Amino acid sequence: MIKKLGKSIREYKKYSVLTPLFVIVEVIFEVVIPFMISNIIDFGINKEDLDYIVRMGIFVLLMAAASLFFGVMSGRFGAKAAAGFSKNLRNDMFDNIQKFSFSNIDKFTPASLVTRMTTDVTNVQNAYMMLIRVAIRSPIMMLFAMIMAFGVNANLALIYLCLAPLLGVALFFIAAKAFPYFERVFKRYDRLNTVVQENVTNVRVVKAYVREEEENKKFKEISSDVYTQFRAAEKIVAWNSPVMQFAVYTCIILISWFASHYIVQGTMTTGQLTSMIVYATQILSSLMMLSMVYVMLLMARSSAERIYEVLTEKSSLTNCDDCICEVADGSVEFENVNFAYSDKQEKYVLSDVNLKIKSGEVVGIIGGTGSSKSSLVSLIPRLYDVSEGCVKVGGVDVRKYDLKCLRDQVAVVLQKNVLFSGTIAQNLRWGNEKASNEELVRVCKLAQADSFIKEFPEGYETYIEQGGTNVSGGQKQRLGIARALLKKPKILILDDSTSAVDTKTDALIRTAFKEEIPDTTKFIIAQRISSVENADKIIVLDGGKVVGFGTPKEMLETNEIYRDIYYTQNRGGEEDVAKN
Ligand SMILES: Nc1ncnc2c1ncn2[C@@H]1O[C@H](COP(=O)(O)OP(=O)(O)OP(=O)(O)O)[C@@H](O)[C@H]1O
Ligand SMILES: [Mg+2]
Repeated sequence: MIKKLGKSIREYKKYSVLTPLFVIVEVIFEVVIPFMISNIIDFGINKEDLDYIVRMGIFVLLMAAASLFFGVMSGRFGAKAAAGFSKNLRNDMFDNIQKFSFSNIDKFTPASLVTRMTTDVTNVQNAYMMLIRVAIRSPIMMLFAMIMAFGVNANLALIYLCLAPLLGVALFFIAAKAFPYFERVFKRYDRLNTVVQENVTNVRVVKAYVREEEENKKFKEISSDVYTQFRAAEKIVAWNSPVMQFAVYTCIILISWFASHYIVQGTMTTGQLTSMIVYATQILSSLMMLSMVYVMLLMARSSAERIYEVLTEKSSLTNCDDCICEVADGSVEFENVNFAYSDKQEKYVLSDVNLKIKSGEVVGIIGGTGSSKSSLVSLIPRLYDVSEGCVKVGGVDVRKYDLKCLRDQVAVVLQKNVLFSGTIAQNLRWGNEKASNEELVRVCKLAQADSFIKEFPEGYETYIEQGGTNVSGGQKQRLGIARALLKKPKILILDDSTSAVDTKTDALIRTAFKEEIPDTTKFIIAQRISSVENADKIIVLDGGKVVGFGTPKEMLETNEIYRDIYYTQNRGGEEDVAKN
């Protein structure tokens, strides 16, 4: 895992090496300074040698400045390395997510992917910063300070040697106790993000159902949960400082006690005592820092695991080795197709589907909600792979095509059609980046979108807000159709794409399709019988099975479900007319 994540350091390796090097230099200066000060006290102050004090004083000042310089530089390099690392990590994750198939996304859920790319990456970034600075600094500081202390007075240094492990055990005990709480906090964050994301992206539904209060309650529950866990963790961590202080003061008292004897005997100077006390603080505070790094690393570990999962997830749709790019025509064939969204699903969503559709045909798909209409068409552009059997486009198994080539030829207007923030023209060009303005107008005319776009003051340059909130449902659908048409596909799939468009415009769209793109195979999923009654073929789906396939006339004669829908809607229509 570390190896995989480490790959994202890339161009920031230089800074990742320089940071610890600078830290080491900084520490050396920091450790030498107390020694110099003890000399100033012993040889300068006690012997009243002003010249010596000034000379050494300037020297100490220079060293302090150097230590400061290296400290600042290591901080800057460390920040650069950690921020760069997290930037690369995010880019790598995003790159891999782009390769995900729908089923990969289903597996992780969008909210969890967001948490992984934000909170988790930040955790790893902080831990990395700690790792290249504090995790290097503390042990080296302890080592050097210990060496210097032994140099000054080996007997007294033994006190540190005894106390440090005791304090170490206490501090790591505290860290280990607090860790499970911190871990739980991060798990709760995942849920917190899910609630916020769901609420904000679906704010319209929340308002429509006046669910604000329930949403508030839901959020408060989770946020107070986070609070409780955090409080519990901090309560334990709060022991760190008193334990540490206690150790430092015990150390100082012990040293002063023993040192007073040595000083009276004349085997130690007051300057040396001062430096010993400084070393005590340095050693013990390094221990405390180390225990904090320990907690951070533990916390980052679960984040790193979650990032690792995203980085190593393989797209469930593999591209073949020698792919075909040329799609011969718009014919579609389903051969003994069974399909489930995941291995966990007990029942097939589609079972035993056999269909043959000729290029250029208009195919209407009818069936109740949840009868697997969307699932059926999602197999054609290979948004999902079949579980058994095969789907052929232009006489070739879809798995033999290069994904991009296939999807260029098979355009889908999804049921949940979305627009991205950007101008109308930019959104349309998703279909074809290089499309000319004339072409945009042409497809918009086909999709009956040109007229309303022209009514906007800025026409094709009108800015669409995120999620397309400033255009109506029907307008959004028409833009979606125009966008798909821009691909000049051999197969066009409209999944309930005219549900929000009035019947007249719906008919106009169909006429335009018939006249302007007669060779394109069209699949039209619709709730309205009028949308499909002039189709060449009708597929009737029920519970994931094809229960009827033939011309509308045949269906009307032989298929009960089709007949039911037909009469219900037509009778409804007649009554409407009668009322008027
Ligand atoms: N991403 C998914 N993961 C798991 N199951 C799914 C997924 N999408 C759909 N299903 C299941 O597959 C079945 C068929 O759904 P599908 O969306 O194909 O129906 P539909 O005919 O298009 O319905 P509607 O008319 O409401 O759009 C449903 O039982 C649904 O629960
Ligand atoms: Mg559907």
